[in-house]
Amino acid sequence: MADPQRRALAQPLLRALILLGAPGAGKGTQAREVARLYDVPHLSTGDMFREHVAKGTELGRRAKPIMESGKLVPDEIVLAMVEERVARKDCAAGFVLDGFPRTLPQAERLEEILACLPLRRALAVNLLVDDEAVVRRIAARRICNSCGAIYSAGEKMPRVEGKCDVCGGQVVQRPDDREDVVRQRLATYHEQTRPVTEFYRRRGQLLELDGSRDIASVQHELLALLARLHEQ
Ligand code: AP5
Ligand code: MG
Repeated sequence: MADPQRRALAQPLLRALILLGAPGAGKGTQAREVARLYDVPHLSTGDMFREHVAKGTELGRRAKPIMESGKLVPDEIVLAMVEERVARKDCAAGFVLDGFPRTLPQAERLEEILACLPLRRALAVNLLVDDEAVVRRIAARRICNSCGAIYSAGEKMPRVEGKCDVCGGQVVQRPDDREDVVRQRLATYHEQTRPVTEFYRRRGQLLELDGSRDIASVQHELLALLARLHEQ
């Protein structure tokens, strides 16, 4: 790891870092690693919903058909879940948001929630990857159905076939990763989530990264960008 990145990681995050980007842009992959390096929670609304679905909760029963159709879960459900999570003590030194906010009302409410927390100004980082590349990435993706670890037939597969390196859970394909659902998720993204990017751009809180490079290069760029912010 280069010096600027080491210096960045030597300081606490103390902010909400929001990863934006299309389905398959690499939000989860990068968010997990940055959260691990800064030792802050990784809050993925998609992972939270998948956990509810796996446990068969009422929330999970409501979210499942919506997720499998490639549409968005209603704002009030997502917001209640995020508000409860962000209020927990472990978020006090900052956190990494992945898959949230995804609509303008979610972004606006998040600003209100953050205004009550003693954190630096939130930063949104948009991972830029074109639609055809994400369709290819998602076709190759597998995840652990227990801890959510992310694998890829192209880049990184578990050492033992079908078995998660992290927790030994089963490595499977996500039910919403069928190509027809992925195309719908992309349409939903362009229609409902792109305005969120503009929301942060207008407020001077947006940075953009070329997400089409390999995982290590994107991570390097992301840490370099955080290092520059700490040094300002
Ligand atoms: P969610 O789980 O958030 O899905 P998504 O936004 O569609 O994003 P993905 O998880 O598909 O992609 P990613 O960007 O995390 O990519 P990853 O790192 O895995 O949401 C699922 C559903 O839940 C939604 O459709 C909605 O119904 C509901 N939902 C969730 N949040 C909501 C909200 N806020 N409001 C309303 N509804 C909500 O990478 C993809 C693959 O590429 C992997 O195989 C990975 O290994 C590989 N890869 C990653 N980076 C690279 C790279 N640089 N080069 C090559 N391969 C790479
Ligand atoms: Mg994800």
